[in-house]
Amino acid sequence: MAINRIIQTLDEFTIQQLRDFPQATGELSSLLRDMGLAAKRVHVEVNKAGLVDILGDAGTMNVQGEEVKKLDVFANNQFVGVLRHGISCAGIGSEELDDIVVFDDEISNQSKYVCLFDPLDGSSNIDVNVSIGTIFSVYRRVSELGKPATAADFLQPGNMQVAAGYMIYGSSTMMVYATRRGVNGFTLDQSIGEFTLSHPDIKCPETGKFYSVNHGNFFQFEQAVKEYVTGCQKKDKTTGGPYTQRYIGSMVADVHRNLIKGGIFMYPGTVDKPNGKLRLLYECNPFAFIVEKAGGKATDGRQRILDIQPTEVHQRTPFFIGSKLMMDELEGFMTGENK
Ligand code: AHG
Repeated sequence: MAINRIIQTLDEFTIQQLRDFPQATGELSSLLRDMGLAAKRVHVEVNKAGLVDILGDAGTMNVQGEEVKKLDVFANNQFVGVLRHGISCAGIGSEELDDIVVFDDEISNQSKYVCLFDPLDGSSNIDVNVSIGTIFSVYRRVSELGKPATAADFLQPGNMQVAAGYMIYGSSTMMVYATRRGVNGFTLDQSIGEFTLSHPDIKCPETGKFYSVNHGNFFQFEQAVKEYVTGCQKKDKTTGGPYTQRYIGSMVADVHRNLIKGGIFMYPGTVDKPNGKLRLLYECNPFAFIVEKAGGKATDGRQRILDIQPTEVHQRTPFFIGSKLMMDELEGFMTGENK
């Protein structure tokens, strides 16, 4: 059967969306294009990671005290580079860097947006050929245009995001981004070197069959989480279980699967780390924005992720995200209703 579908590239798509908003300046489209360009460069390096001497430790620790792989450094440099030289971004925050970076030059000071990103999430999976990703978040500045961006631009709650997205470097490379108009996914067509619209208007199924959690931490979870996870493993009227367990240790891959197929992803707090592992600004807020726009939910177990007022750029939070009905069931356990 002949497939008669018009191929639309990322650029064509964002330009088409702009036409619907004659007052738009095109800065956001330009920023998304910049992110797509950096992602293509990272895609090339990720794909030859097994061939060249780019694997291994860069010999430094990141601000979280974790080992930095060389590809993390490469990816970080690509995203910082495109945004610094672009026309839309006044400054960045990166999971790889201690502090925010303000681009203090004439064009950047006039730019409307700041961008926060995790350049290479799941990097401990690089050596073993498992999917990894990039996660990003875009905020409109609250500081005065014409002057350098300030810390307040970066410390906004997630509900102020104007766009958020992720790239997944997997069996194919994809870029998925959300704006208030919805969520769309683009797959890299390597024959033309362009991201092309492959997943228009993504909706997260109301429920699913997957639950994703690190079971190694089970005995360190709070009681309500233990009970919910146990409910996922057995025939249970309240949770709707049993569900299939899928956890790859690369949040981009785990949440992407659950977004498309339906499911719940959890990284709860533990006895040792009450705030869990994941970073609010670099990992949780962007995914919460995307999944909510697709019809799902995201909380820290008690409150909506997007309503948390951040106090510092590297703060962590427990994280629960996924299909609406599964999240409702979890919430019932957290509030004691589903006991
Ligand atoms: P890293 O980038 O250091 O590999 O961390 C990945 C994140 C996230 O993507 C993943 O879901 C989680 O950490 C896995 O952590 P655990 O190994 O503790 O389950």
